[in-house]
Amino acid sequence: MSENAQNRDLTHLPSTGLSRRELDRQLDELQAQMTSEKAGKLSVNSLKGRAEIQRVVESAYVKFFPYNALFTRQEKAAAQIENQVLDMCLSLFNGGSLGCANLTSGGTESIFCALHAMRQWARATRPQITEPEILAPYSLHATFNKTAHFLGIKVVRIPVGEDLLADVDEIQAAINENTIGLAASAPSWPYGLVDPIEAMGKLAQHHELWLHVDACVGGYILPFMRKLDCTIPGYDFSVAGVSSISADLHKYGYAPKPCSTILYRSSEQQRYHYVPVTEWPCGLYLSQAFMGSRPLASTAAAWAVMNYLGERGYVENARQILSVKDKIQRAVGEIDGLATWETHGPLMMIKAEPCHDGSSVNIESVTGAMRARGWVLLGVMEPPALHLTVDPMEEEALQQFIADLIDVTAKVREGDSSALGSLNYGGAGGSQSPKWLLNALAYMDEAQLKQDN
Ligand SMILES: Cc1ncc(COP(=O)(O)O)c(C=O)c1O
Repeated sequence: MSENAQNRDLTHLPSTGLSRRELDRQLDELQAQMTSEKAGKLSVNSLKGRAEIQRVVESAYVKFFPYNALFTRQEKAAAQIENQVLDMCLSLFNGGSLGCANLTSGGTESIFCALHAMRQWARATRPQITEPEILAPYSLHATFNKTAHFLGIKVVRIPVGEDLLADVDEIQAAINENTIGLAASAPSWPYGLVDPIEAMGKLAQHHELWLHVDACVGGYILPFMRKLDCTIPGYDFSVAGVSSISADLHKYGYAPKPCSTILYRSSEQQRYHYVPVTEWPCGLYLSQAFMGSRPLASTAAAWAVMNYLGERGYVENARQILSVKDKIQRAVGEIDGLATWETHGPLMMIKAEPCHDGSSVNIESVTGAMRARGWVLLGVMEPPALHLTVDPMEEEALQQFIADLIDVTAKVREGDSSALGSLNYGGAGGSQSPKWLLNALAYMDEAQLKQDN
């Protein structure tokens, strides 16, 4: 059998390895089938910044590729990299001299750590609570329910107001004897809006609750948008009452995955973060966050990109993102049947609105038809909308996106529904999906999908 044929249908380890040449050929072939760089600039799939940013990140990653950050605790250089990254991050959130932070693998782990610290704090300060709950707007990221599930915390989601923001009055009304904390977003994934965190901070202080701010997607771009005079409501430690913040370096910080941060107002909160273990034969086991082994490479690459761009570079990047966003927003404004809403930051949504002749555009068909043209976009279901994660984009690709959107919308209005797409976050599952996903979806019936975690 040729090297090529042998590897077409791999169900077990090949008896002999492939040559480097053949391996590269196959990897190139697989990579060519991935979403194109151009399309990635509007979907969170491949937030990468500009090409030269990517080169800096890749080179730093490769240099530190072999190191396990679990075991580099005696290495001065590793400590320097981690300390400097975290200090730079804290300063972006007005952490002051009291702020403390930890590195994690992503938004999910950062949020897990925040909820864990919140629960441990509540156990220490109000031990009578045995069924802890947090209150949050409906728009909060889904991973809060997942992480809270592992921690035995109930997430109570309160409907957002008509402005799609956390409804602080309703949240206040829902506070009860089991409430240990509040959570809000800066900005929320589905709506791209920063919740009224200042009002929630006051509420948290008044009721002595922990307030977590999820700035996973916005944390490393909002400070730079502010420098460009964008109006961004308060969300960081300058807001009284904020106890912790999650912010992903591997999104708009341009670090490679996995790389995120969990930031605490002070050691008063961070002391509840750690889980030291001594009950085993090797002495103290203490890890930075939830993960054990983890790559030093992604932190080194974060260090590299932060030092390469500096504040000026991140501001310039934010300026380019705002320019792309503005051009798409203007173009959508000209398309009969589509509209956007104002957002704080780099996310933007495109929804349907009644056409001048009274007809309407099926936004799911627009998604499907855009996908058929190579634009792999995510969606929002309530209300139905395309979800764009804007990254700096070449003008040519941007104009292509706009031209395709105009063309596709016109065809959908004429009744073309041949490419019905899905706005469901998990709706990408299809015959091409990996086995784990197909199996997982098969195990779940309607009742399970609706279960209260
Ligand atoms: C606001 C927000 N929070 C949390 C997350 C989860 O982050 P991760 O996928 O890195 O776990 C995301 C991911 O998009 C997000 O946008």
